[in-house]
Amino acid sequence: MSKYILPVSVFGTVFGVAVLLKNHVTGGRCPSKATINGKTVVITGANTGIGKATAQELAKRGGRIIMGCRDMEKCEAAAKEIRGKTLNPHVSACQLDLASMKSIREFAEKIKKEEKHVDVLINNAGVMRCPAWKTEDGFDMQFGVNHLGHFLLTNLLLDKLKESAPSRVINLASLAHLVGKIDFEDLNWEKKKFDTKQAYCQSKLANVLFTRELAKRLQGSGVTVNAVHPGVVATELGRHTGLHQSQFSSSVLSPFFSLLVKSPELGAQPSVYLAVSEEVEGATGRYYDVMTEKEPAPQALDEEAARRLWEISSLLVGLEEDGRSGTVNSAAEGQRSAGQTDAAQSPTPAVGTSGSAPASGAAAHSEPL
Ligand SMILES: NC(=O)c1ccc[n+]([C@@H]2O[C@H](COP(=O)([O-])OP(=O)(O)OC[C@H]3O[C@@H](n4cnc5c(N)ncnc54)[C@H](OP(=O)(O)O)[C@@H]3O)[C@@H](O)[C@H]2O)c1
Repeated sequence: MSKYILPVSVFGTVFGVAVLLKNHVTGGRCPSKATINGKTVVITGANTGIGKATAQELAKRGGRIIMGCRDMEKCEAAAKEIRGKTLNPHVSACQLDLASMKSIREFAEKIKKEEKHVDVLINNAGVMRCPAWKTEDGFDMQFGVNHLGHFLLTNLLLDKLKESAPSRVINLASLAHLVGKIDFEDLNWEKKKFDTKQAYCQSKLANVLFTRELAKRLQGSGVTVNAVHPGVVATELGRHTGLHQSQFSSSVLSPFFSLLVKSPELGAQPSVYLAVSEEVEGATGRYYDVMTEKEPAPQALDEEAARRLWEISSLLVGLEEDGRSGTVNSAAEGQRSAGQTDAAQSPTPAVGTSGSAPASGAAAHSEPL
């Protein structure tokens, strides 16, 4: 029995120190005390996790917060909770399913019609390592929600963001982009065997490439755009991974894991920093690891890949058909008319959202308390 005492006490001490130090070593709080009274912030996927904590912190700082979520019941409940905790009545829930281009367009229309300005757009929603699900429009779920959905939403809100300049766009990327590869021949996993980890990494690399290309196209507009890895945060993001699949792992391992990683409140600090801090005023096209600017992976610095991804994404979401992506398109048109056979030209026909998010209903908007 006594032979176990030493290893157990060493493990206990290391674990205890790790728990006590984790908040300190994982980045701490946003140093800026800036308030954002009168500013409008749109946050996607704000009913839980980092998005909800970001909404709460920005509501505390006086912002008018619009939470774009796919599940209105969860969204209304989160908005109500935030209004109660912050005593800010300007926190509202609005229907947005990023797995549906129709829902994204309805959401953007509503914002454009009802909001005088949009000062901050936080592209936060994300899905990680789900099965080989497809979006309503037939795209791979992770590529479709994490990249294409936000690509379309941002483009649809660009005029509003420009009118509101100086304004900021923040894209939640991830350290996972480091091992990401963009497979231009098969963006939607239709030709090769589906690999859910790689699909997530591809989508997160796409977030960084999109950030860099958008920043380039927005030079001089007063709209900045940056990508951020929030750190490792205890949220529902791992819901499709092994950790949440069995009774043992969800009831024993998961709480143990949660002790070692950041709380959502701390996980929100990098997004808050990029949204309000004076220090990053004018900074654009950058990648932040928590609150420190870092160089992203070499494949995220590939300008040709960033341009190509933009053009393909634009075709896939039908932006050029609107004649309004403004900053793009002649090259995309050229690519299409040249009859190139990129995956972009053959998005999977619409399929059911088997096992995916609930179908989006008509755009709904909750009333503040
Ligand atoms: N947690 C981490 O350690 C970590 C690390 C690196 C990067 N990130 C990034 O941080 C962001 C936030 O993640 P999180 O950790 O807070 O995860 P989370 O707790 O799972 O929250 C994700 C949010 O995205 C929403 N969402 C998913 N699919 C959607 C769709 N089709 N339409 C609209 N909303 C949708 C979810 O809504 P439902 O509740 O309805 O599903 C939820 O509100 C993600 O982009 C993630 O990639 C997180």
